[in-house]
Amino acid sequence: MRAIAVLTSGGDAPGMNAAVRAIVRKAIYHGMKIYGIEDGYQGLIEDHIKEMDLASVGDIIHRGGTVLRSARCLEFKTVEGREKGIKNLEKYGIEGVIVIGGDGSFAGAQKLAEMGINAIGIPGTIDNDLGYTKYTIGFDTALNTVLDAVSRVRDTSSSHNRVNVIEVMGRNCGDIALFTGIAGGAESIVIPEINFDIDGICERLLHGVERGKRHSIIMLAEGIMEAQKFGESLEARTGLETRVTILGHTQRGGSPTAFDRVMATRMGAAAVDLLMADQSNRVIGYDGAEIYDMDIHEALAIEHQTHEDLYELAKILAI
Ligand code: ADP
Ligand code: F6P
Repeated sequence: MRAIAVLTSGGDAPGMNAAVRAIVRKAIYHGMKIYGIEDGYQGLIEDHIKEMDLASVGDIIHRGGTVLRSARCLEFKTVEGREKGIKNLEKYGIEGVIVIGGDGSFAGAQKLAEMGINAIGIPGTIDNDLGYTKYTIGFDTALNTVLDAVSRVRDTSSSHNRVNVIEVMGRNCGDIALFTGIAGGAESIVIPEINFDIDGICERLLHGVERGKRHSIIMLAEGIMEAQKFGESLEARTGLETRVTILGHTQRGGSPTAFDRVMATRMGAAAVDLLMADQSNRVIGYDGAEIYDMDIHEALAIEHQTHEDLYELAKILAI
């Protein structure tokens, strides 16, 4: 393969830059031309394609966001849109594309593969919502960002004897709430995969106050109900003063953790290896020990499993 390209797509995630750096440097090391496609699939359609060199990925390994920028692009879901993209790839002689993103971006990569371009996906999303892999780039950083916020809220919560509801991202996946709930010692965790019992949550809060707790943290995954309403409902039922914090996009930014940088680097390198071996329609995953690759279609068919064991453990520990 003489020329390949990389793009980042969907919601950005800390560590995407480390992956881009690894891809660019490894491709150049192996004598290939490497192009960066800016603005995701939108940039592919609109020819925001530029050749990258060693220096173009200097000083980015520690930066959050993505230097290639990202976009959500409806036009790429149409055949006409994709054909424009393919024409642009042909113009530069690009034979393989590495897509860093979530399941939507992988669906786009699959379409590229169907149209004759070797396509490889790398999981990049803070949500950790892909069923085929135990880890997605950015998840670890997001967890640490949330935990930092939880500790701060805990300080003030305990000064005022308050309950604090902290809403976190995750789209339809509760992993951010669940993992930070465990790591932050939350009293309750509310995630979309498991029905919540408001009476049980209130009982636990009141029981905690009875045994002298001066703060209570509830981790609430986004999309379940309006966080403010949730907090008001807790306050009305328990009589405990409650405050609500929505962490929002703070969770998407920031310097990636060592783990995210190392994993992103390894996944980026693995993707280049796959293209050099003339592989296509594959995604990179991590099983907790090893990096592996699998067919995109098979990967997208695997449903994300909820860590019910962790959920139950958190409940036990919050007695
Ligand atoms: P994520 O990759 O984080 O899941 P999205 O679901 O927003 O984010 O998908 C990112 C982009 O991938 C979309 O804006 C679109 O350009 C492309 N995409 C998503 N689904 C498809 C599809 N079925 N066919 C082609 N492209 C798609
Ligand atoms: O997929 C990442 C994510 O941050 C989700 O957790 C969240 O629901 C969504 O993207 C927010 O999207 P946007 O940045 O477009 O508001």
